[in-house]
Amino acid sequence: MIKTVNELCEEARAGHYAIGAFNASTLEVTKAILQAAAELKSPVIIETSEGEANFEGYQIFADTVKDLASELAIDVAINLDHGKSLESIKYAIESGYSSVHIDCSKMDRKDNIKLTKQVVEFAHSRGVSVEGELGHVGGSSEVHEGEQPKDGTLTDPKEAAEYIKETGVDVFAGSYGNIHGMYKDAPHLDIERIEKIAKESGIPLSLHGGSGIPDSQIKEAIKAGICKVNVNTELRKAYKESLEKNLRGANAEIVPYKYLPQVINDVKEVVKKKIILFSGL
Ligand code: 13P
Repeated sequence: MIKTVNELCEEARAGHYAIGAFNASTLEVTKAILQAAAELKSPVIIETSEGEANFEGYQIFADTVKDLASELAIDVAINLDHGKSLESIKYAIESGYSSVHIDCSKMDRKDNIKLTKQVVEFAHSRGVSVEGELGHVGGSSEVHEGEQPKDGTLTDPKEAAEYIKETGVDVFAGSYGNIHGMYKDAPHLDIERIEKIAKESGIPLSLHGGSGIPDSQIKEAIKAGICKVNVNTELRKAYKESLEKNLRGANAEIVPYKYLPQVINDVKEVVKKKIILFSGL
């Protein structure tokens, strides 16, 4: 069944676990994510950034997820991750996404609130839930050499509460020491800040940049109020490494439907480990 991110986050909040939100940009990764959820009998959020959706096709992605979710009998939310404009948000919703994340966290606060409010008005009138962001989560979903960049844009709990009240977003993405991508040094999440934001905001919180965060910190973050954890880089890494391994050698298989199932399995294993970690099992 297709649900909204908000519905799945509220279920997670009530059950004291977090729901995994995984990015896909190919059919193999889409299958890996949904099959992992089905094997664990778990709900899941599957998402694309604008770049990923432009590659795969918004409509193709949404239709494929709906077909697979029905075939596998699982609850799935289809989310646009880091939507940057009202146009891309509208396009995703018209293509069948059940949820959107509007990320204008690089704008000043006033402009961020203005655009987020427009998104909320459009999305809510169509039964679509909205995740908003204040305090910028930096980095990109890649494996980075060198030090983790210092990011002085942590979310202020009072400002977050005001932003949520003014915009009416359903789920809140904050900056609590998390960063997109994998770095030599693991991030240090500010757990107290998560606790304060969860208390003051009253809505489910999401944690972006889930790759490379040690399991112990993920568990503490969920206890502090995180209901959704986004993971992309670790899946991209598993996909590439598996593909390289399967295509290596003079006699390597050349039939895609014979070597790609192994790639799906390798990505699926990563997704399953994350779902188990987030579920607190
Ligand atoms: P990672 O690439 O660090 O897993 O972050 C993914 C993410 O937050 C997508 O929004």
